[in-house]
Amino acid sequence: MTSGHWMAFSFRLPHMLAGKNIALGVTGGISVYKMCTVVRLLKKAGANVRVMMTQSAAEFVTPLTFSTLSQEEVVVSLWPENKKTSTNLGVKHIDIGLWADVMLVAPATANTIAYIAHGNADNIVSSTVLALRCPLIIAPAMDVDMWENRATQDNLTTLRERGYFILPPESGELASGLTGMGRLPEPETIVDFVNGVIVKTPQDLKKKKILVTAGPTHEPIDPVRYIGNRSSGKMGFALANAAALRGADVTLVSGPVSLGTPNNVKRIDVETAEEMYGAVMAYAKKQDVIIMAAAVADYAPAEQAKQKIKKQHATMTMELRSTPDILRALGEKKTKKQILIGFALETENELANAKIKLQKKNLDLIVMNSTKDKGAAFGSDTNVVTLIDTKGNVSALPKMPKFDVAVEILNRAVKEFNR
Ligand SMILES: Cc1cc2nc3c(=O)[nH]c(=O)nc-3n(C[C@H](O)[C@H](O)[C@H](O)COP(=O)(O)O)c2cc1C
Repeated sequence: MTSGHWMAFSFRLPHMLAGKNIALGVTGGISVYKMCTVVRLLKKAGANVRVMMTQSAAEFVTPLTFSTLSQEEVVVSLWPENKKTSTNLGVKHIDIGLWADVMLVAPATANTIAYIAHGNADNIVSSTVLALRCPLIIAPAMDVDMWENRATQDNLTTLRERGYFILPPESGELASGLTGMGRLPEPETIVDFVNGVIVKTPQDLKKKKILVTAGPTHEPIDPVRYIGNRSSGKMGFALANAAALRGADVTLVSGPVSLGTPNNVKRIDVETAEEMYGAVMAYAKKQDVIIMAAAVADYAPAEQAKQKIKKQHATMTMELRSTPDILRALGEKKTKKQILIGFALETENELANAKIKLQKKNLDLIVMNSTKDKGAAFGSDTNVVTLIDTKGNVSALPKMPKFDVAVEILNRAVKEFNR
């Protein structure tokens, strides 16, 4: 599970924990004890920490330990302690959800992961998750068989697609006596991960409207066949997620993909290049940033057969017509303040071709990737890109998770705003 994960914190990041509000949801696993050190480290780094515990978590370590370490009251119940005077006690799960800059659920039991995936809200941790407006980090820890179970893995896929950060467990000796994946990482690793999420989700796109396109288009040949391409949509979805986490008002126009929609993203599904053109143009004018990450077909069948084409001849010729050029149309209509970002997937003369496209389509930035790079482009969770701007600056980024590539692209957009 570590490999192919869409967010990695391999390089040194600035420390951003001082003054940050961190909501910590502790659930009932054997590794609860490690979280005492995590709270100490977070407090030492200057963060404010409010701990919530499930009833099961409180079987392992007492709330008193966490309240002493966090210097805050620990919340174990959804309900006010004194129901008779509850009117001015506030609603704890809403209050903490609004207070937090980031929430961490660690250790996250298989049970709590299932709870979150299905939107259950009958304890303080899962209720706060549902009411949350800030990034959520989930650090699963469990026995190897519980970890490998399809139910757990399917639930984690759902959570990842919603845009939550998953800190994968480590492999090693487990409390059950078995060996395998499932160990909660060491406290320092957890704190580094929390810091990384804070660094990568600054609230600098609040009130900005961002439109992202993603995925392939399908151009129908007959009622059952189409011309398509290998785009998975992962890069565009990562961009939409990263922008929403930074506070932007995000519209995602997606071709046919099998990906779940990230939280706080408005998604419009389309099938053909023509439909994508229509949807993008309907929203384009009001956008501050438009990022065209979709792999739009250049040609579509000139005619769509009404019935399924029968296998009759040894060869077959099909006439194709060019599809609307969405990027060019956007470039022509671009307002002074608008930032337009395009992608170029090249198989030869990559840099020269990308530079021509940047100029011809009136873009502010082009993201170039090549089919030659290992770990890049279609279907992969990582990408290897080069960013080229209008001033001729060329930055070749190392191979990184698509989420991190998205962060870099958005950093460029923010720089343009501040110019
Ligand atoms: C000694 C013991 C250790 C456990 N450790 C884990 C664990 O590491 N991970 C896990 O997912 N469940 C573990 N469980 C099971 C959970 O405590 C159980 O599923 C519980 O319902 C979780 O509730 P919660 O998610 O509300 O905290 C353990 C249970 C016991 C008795």
